[in-house]
Amino acid sequence: MPVGIDDLAMYIPKLYVDSKDFAKARGIDPQKLESGIGVRKMAIVDTNQDPACMASNACLKLMEKNNLHPKDIGRMYVATESALDESKAMNSFVIGMLEQVYGDGSFEHAGGIECKFACVSGSYALYDNANWIRAEENNGKAAIVIVSDIAKYDIGSAGEYTQGAGALAMLIKDNPRLLEFDQKVTSTIIKNEYDFYRPFGKETPLVNGNYSNLLYLIQVKKAFDSYKEKAKTTGLIKWDENNESITDKIDYFIVHLPYRKMGEKALAYLLRHEWRHLPRWQYIIKEVGMDEPIPKDPRGTIESILLDKEFMKLDEQFRRAFMKTSSYQDVFNRKMASSLEASSIIGNLYTASMYVGFRSMLEFEYKKGIELENKRIGFGSYGSGSSAMVFSGVIKSGYKEIVKSMNLEEEIGNRTKVSMEQYEQLRESEINPDYYITKPRREFILVKIGGNTSDKAGLREYEYIH
Ligand code: HMG
Repeated sequence: MPVGIDDLAMYIPKLYVDSKDFAKARGIDPQKLESGIGVRKMAIVDTNQDPACMASNACLKLMEKNNLHPKDIGRMYVATESALDESKAMNSFVIGMLEQVYGDGSFEHAGGIECKFACVSGSYALYDNANWIRAEENNGKAAIVIVSDIAKYDIGSAGEYTQGAGALAMLIKDNPRLLEFDQKVTSTIIKNEYDFYRPFGKETPLVNGNYSNLLYLIQVKKAFDSYKEKAKTTGLIKWDENNESITDKIDYFIVHLPYRKMGEKALAYLLRHEWRHLPRWQYIIKEVGMDEPIPKDPRGTIESILLDKEFMKLDEQFRRAFMKTSSYQDVFNRKMASSLEASSIIGNLYTASMYVGFRSMLEFEYKKGIELENKRIGFGSYGSGSSAMVFSGVIKSGYKEIVKSMNLEEEIGNRTKVSMEQYEQLRESEINPDYYITKPRREFILVKIGGNTSDKAGLREYEYIH
């Protein structure tokens, strides 16, 4: 049974920090942020917002846009790494908010959980819900998967310029209009790692930046190898292995985007591995102007690679030159660039980053006048800790109905630029929640946390503002 994403909707908070202001305040060259990292604006939440109300706002948009009623929905999953509670799932907060609009008990028949595995959990949620529909356990109903997060790092840390906030809701059903998932090729990889983690009670993560960058590349590549094997044995994708690469047969690459430049580097890493045994490599090496460096330790583990400083230096030099070659540039411009547009004006959205990238690709390729029907999309999802999932899908004939009205600027809406002083006050929760910066309109907001008695501690109250 064809199952996949029928439609999606996004909610981005109305405040942002400009990278130029940020660079000035932290004494960084603004060019490093714009071109080295690829960030121009970072979305941040107001005093009256949290990941649950962003998730609800994205979900309400999706339901209104598709004239859906709660009776059409059998499952609602929220994937996040910005959990509000150790036991109460975020989707229960979301159901509570949506029932303010659709009526008490309107979602009672449905089910769902909150999923966690850093940034990759949304992909697991999609996979599980697609299989729930394929198994015909859904009784004719659709599933909604929401990805919602606030990416927040220590002030003054290198992670601080890779922050962001937002949510995206996806409608998963049979015979989808937008994207049908390819079957029997989804591949995962998992390992106990400490590249990025946030112990209980800590608001910001502990990050090993360079280690996390390399681990992301290695893990996604390993999941891709397994995907490649499955694509070959199932016959989903056919290619001449002596002269072609499977990457030639995938029309778009959508990957997890902690920051824009990471997408560019992930594509370079993948293409180098997939192309180096092909005849085209000799021409590429000529254009690069140097041989591809080889690590001293043939095991090629992440630890041995990072310890090999000489290799790392040469490899970075090679990677930068490779990214300038006409072969890389051609693939990058045709198969990835459009998916990176949204990232540079929103920032890292953790679970939502890759899916906002998918939405960005759809809009900007459509605007170029490119026919997307039957195009195969390869997804590379990564979550620290760590797990990667690689899967693919094909754009369906109904996509134009959805994509023609997409407008990133309009969907994000008018935003307010906050000063660095306001940003720091918001970060440190120094502004009273009653004094929000932007006036809410047609959205859910957080009005109160906890009552006056201990039995109400942590209780969150939300309201829909008309
Ligand atoms: P950094 O110290 O800024 O790194 O940390 P850098 O010094 O290597 O600089 C970055 C780039 O800016 C380099 O470009 C520099 O050359 C360039 P590259 O060589 O790589 O092409 N640069 C300049 N460019 C122009 N003008 C200049 C200039 N100066 C330097 N003047 C890092 C960057 C990402 C490590 C840091 O921001 C960080 O720790 N971020 C948080 C962790 C992270 O995002 N990791 C990504 C992989 S793990 C992941 O994606 C999972 C995650 O989303 C969490 C989850 O799964 O839940 C994080």
